[in-house]
Amino acid sequence: MKQNFLKRPFQLGSATLPNNIFYAPLAGCSDYPFRKMSAKYSPGLIYCEMVKMDALIRHDQGTFHMLDYDASMHPIGGQICGSKPSIAGQAARIIEELGFDVVDLNCGCPVDKVTKDGSGSGMMKTPHLIGEVIANMVAAVKIPVTVKIRAGWDEQNINAAEVTKIAEQAGAKAICIHGRTRQQAYKGPANWDHIKACKDVAKTIHVIGNGDLFTPEDIERMFAHTGCDAVLVARGTMGHPWIAEDIMRHLEGLPPIERSPEDTRQALLEHFNHSYAYHHDRRVVVDMRRVGCWYFKKSAGTRGFRDLISRAQDPKVVRDLIMNYPIGELGEGEEQEETADCSDNC
Ligand SMILES: Cc1cc2nc3c(=O)[nH]c(=O)nc-3n(C[C@H](O)[C@H](O)[C@H](O)COP(=O)(O)O)c2cc1C
Repeated sequence: MKQNFLKRPFQLGSATLPNNIFYAPLAGCSDYPFRKMSAKYSPGLIYCEMVKMDALIRHDQGTFHMLDYDASMHPIGGQICGSKPSIAGQAARIIEELGFDVVDLNCGCPVDKVTKDGSGSGMMKTPHLIGEVIANMVAAVKIPVTVKIRAGWDEQNINAAEVTKIAEQAGAKAICIHGRTRQQAYKGPANWDHIKACKDVAKTIHVIGNGDLFTPEDIERMFAHTGCDAVLVARGTMGHPWIAEDIMRHLEGLPPIERSPEDTRQALLEHFNHSYAYHHDRRVVVDMRRVGCWYFKKSAGTRGFRDLISRAQDPKVVRDLIMNYPIGELGEGEEQEETADCSDNC
């Protein structure tokens, strides 16, 4: 066991989580089929993609749909986004009543249409408001409240440690820090020193490290560098639903599980089946255009696969393509092909 970084179980307020390796909220990605795949590998907590507080309290059906889950996905976190203290408690209570184990406040989304009303990472400009919103959420629910922030709005305004103290005072049980500023979006490396600075001021609140966690070794370095209590894996889960299992084995000193291109194909097929069972229609085709590229990112011949899948219209054609497309190991010196551009996301 590497310095006891892995905690099994992990206590988060009133919730006993199986471990301290969490899967991030990912707008447009951490949907029902994604979470169904993720649950198989037992992360300590799986967050749903963010939903807007306003939409929740006006009972918008599409928003409720995004929060669909089944029993296998517990423990599960719901993430709400908004800057109005007056509706924060009501929104958090809806998440609790839906049966979620944790409710999180989004203070990290960099997208203009979210920040323009002061929500998402716009909240980093008004730390006192973060405190007010959290306090109202805490007062309204029994489940633990967490908050996810960025290092600050920009390099001139790094205030993650200040926000950590405010969140702790307001009653949040954990704070997750993405070690980039809003201005950075996804450019440049995450600066883990900002996460360490939060851990240094935290008295009772748990600190969750986030940013550039793609391999079990990255996670070990994050724990060692920052002293954080838990980690949140984001892009590292895309096409690697098993990363929690790999991380836990690594931290326990167990040999890694070798996963062949054929194993990857079977996993993508499983993801397809979850998507088809959930959507029952052509949406699975659109889903697989995105998801398929994640799974095959580290394989040779992905471009051809992507071309064919982007032209396919019928779920059966997509299924055949996944089952039969010749996928190989990347040859020496071969470049990994880039997939989704995440720069416009939260
Ligand atoms: C496609 C995508 C969607 C995201 N959606 C959310 C979201 O809904 N809520 C949130 O707090 N963060 C969201 N994020 C940010 C991630 O949770 C995470 O903080 C960020 O990707 C940094 O971690 P990484 O470098 O390990 O990917 C999103 C990121 C991406 C790439």
